[in-house]
Amino acid sequence: MNIILFGPPGVGKGTQAARLKEAYNLLHLSTGEALREEVKNQTELGKRAKEAMNKGELVSDEIVVGIVINTMEKASGKNGVMLDGFPRNIPQAQTLDALLSKRNITIDHVLSLESDQEIILKRLAGRRFCNKCGKDYNIYFNPPKVEGECDACEDGILAARADDNEKVHLDRLNVYASQTEPLKEYYAKKGLLRPIDGMGSPDEVFEEVKKILN
Ligand code: AP5
Repeated sequence: MNIILFGPPGVGKGTQAARLKEAYNLLHLSTGEALREEVKNQTELGKRAKEAMNKGELVSDEIVVGIVINTMEKASGKNGVMLDGFPRNIPQAQTLDALLSKRNITIDHVLSLESDQEIILKRLAGRRFCNKCGKDYNIYFNPPKVEGECDACEDGILAARADDNEKVHLDRLNVYASQTEPLKEYYAKKGLLRPIDGMGSPDEVFEEVKKILN
C-alpha cells in the first residue's frame, strides 16, 4: 500500500505518520524531516535549502526530488511507502507519477487532512521538540510535565522549530494555498483523494484514517 499524506502545515501529518508507520509497516518519507536533517548536518544541500525553509517558501524541486529518489530505493522489506509533505506542487506531482510508473508502483490513497486555520495556528504555535532526543510536545495539547523540559531526557530543553514563528506560519499557509492546495483537484481527478476531518484528537483522526485503509 502506497499513500500520500496531504494537508496544510500543522494539520497533523507528522503525528499521523508516526501511527501509520507502526500500524502498517510503511517506509515514511517526510521531505521536511529529510531537509531538516541536511540543514542540521550542514551539508551543501542543507545550506541551499535552509534559507527557503526559514522563510516558509518551498525548497527547489530539484533538491526535493533528489531526496525522494534516494529514499524510495530503501523501501524493500516494507509494505509500501508513505509520502509526507511531498508532492507540494503540480510539477512535483508529475515528477512523482513518472518515477512511480518507471518502478510499476501506484498510489492507493491521498489522505487529505483538513482543519480550520485557527486550530492549525494554535497547533503550530504550541509545537516544541527536545533538543536532545527530538521527542515532540505541544504546550497546548501535549505539554511536558515540567514547563520547557523533556520528560525523557535529564537535561533536554524544549525548543520550537526554526520555521515555527507567527510570521512564517502565515507565509507557509499562503504557500500551501497557492502552490499545494491545487493538488487536491489533481488527485481528485485520479479518484485518489480521501478527505479526513483532522480536527479531533490524534487518536480520533487515526480512527478515521484506519476506516479508509482497512
Ligand atoms: P514540513 O516539515 O513538511 O512541514 P509542514 O508541511 O509545514 O508540516 P508540519 O511539519 O509543520 O506540520 P504537520 O502537518 O506534520 O503537523 P504535526 O503533526 O507536526 O516542511 C517544512 C519545510 O520544508 C517547508 O516549509 C518547505 O520549505 C520544505 N519542504 C518540505 N517538503 C517540501 C517539498 N516537497 N517541496 C519543497 N519544499 C519542501 O502537528 C503540529 C502540532 O500539532 C504538533 O505539536 C502536534 O503534536 C499537534 N497535533 C497534531 N495533531 C493534533 C491533533 N489531532 N490534536 C491536537 N494536537 C495535534
